[in-house]
Amino acid sequence: MVRNVHPSRARASRRTFLRQGLAVGAGTLGAGLLATGAPITAQAASGGLTRGDAAILRFLSAAEILETDLWQQYNELGGVQDEEVPGGSGSTAYIEALQVLDGDMPQYIHDNTEDEFTHFTFINAYLVAHGVDPVNLDRFRTLPGSTATGAQHIGRLTNLMELTVDTSWWTRYRSRTKNPDFGDTFPQAVPGLSEGKFPAIPRSDDDLSPPKHIQAIANTAGFHFAFIEQGGTSLYPSLAQRVTHREVLRILLSIGPTETAHFQTWQDKAGNAPALTDPTNGLVFPDLNAPPFGGEDFQTNLIMPEPTIFLSRKFPPVSIIRPTNTEGAAMGAARALTADGLFIGQSPEFFRVLHDLAEQADAARHGT
Ligand SMILES: [Fe+2]
Ligand SMILES: [Fe+2]
Repeated sequence: MVRNVHPSRARASRRTFLRQGLAVGAGTLGAGLLATGAPITAQAASGGLTRGDAAILRFLSAAEILETDLWQQYNELGGVQDEEVPGGSGSTAYIEALQVLDGDMPQYIHDNTEDEFTHFTFINAYLVAHGVDPVNLDRFRTLPGSTATGAQHIGRLTNLMELTVDTSWWTRYRSRTKNPDFGDTFPQAVPGLSEGKFPAIPRSDDDLSPPKHIQAIANTAGFHFAFIEQGGTSLYPSLAQRVTHREVLRILLSIGPTETAHFQTWQDKAGNAPALTDPTNGLVFPDLNAPPFGGEDFQTNLIMPEPTIFLSRKFPPVSIIRPTNTEGAAMGAARALTADGLFIGQSPEFFRVLHDLAEQADAARHGT
């Protein structure tokens, strides 16, 4: 969830957002009223939550529901299916390709999936306890999922089969002189993934071969895992700066770092993705330890955040999460997920609900 929305543009962005949504959305209009995207009234936000706190928690609940949906798809085919994370039966060829990155990938995928489920379930329960409507996106579970052996045949919220993965988080956390909160941009670790559309799960059993093709799909997943979790890593501290009640702050400060724990793990595993060219589509995973890559910005074992500029250049460099600017944070997250291709095929109504939830979260201010 790289956030690049300038605050002055965030408010006027609805049309652009809808247009982009319409451009990528090929689904039908969702039925039903706009229950989850409706503005939160002062009455609805009674019970101890301010309107702003409720709006922030509702956007986070939606983001966690979307995360859960995509992680569930990964777990069905590449994770461990059990009573904690039921559904699916695994794809042997996909799992073997994921295990090239780390033998424990199925367990890590399972655990990340379970965490996301608990995130939205907890936030929704907390909202209900304070008299606020929980977020429910079930009416948008309309996207077809993978037909590969091992996947459930159910409607999905997210699309993992046409991704355009921004891999600039790789260099963003390695830079010693730049910070996205200062307007800086960062080179891609896998330039090919940031252009075009690629599957991160086998779309069908036809994707299980040739070996370099299924490995490229697993590599794509490896980089996508970190892209998703670095987004949460920034989103929580960005929104925490806007909450009012100490307990809501505690929630954000307690969930957010688990996203960081995920990100750190996935960054390490992405570095193990083997260099290769997918013979079916030409997608290149470069050797990040050799020219023209390599060095401090690309070397695969440099997975700790490098110290960089923060708040003002007058201060010494410090190792931090980046970005954490709070202006337009929710809309930036929604835009980044949209640009990722996760919502290709979703209905205009879906984009409207997501936009409204983000807009209300971004309108929240401490004390409101
Ligand atoms: Fe989460
Ligand atoms: Fe997450």
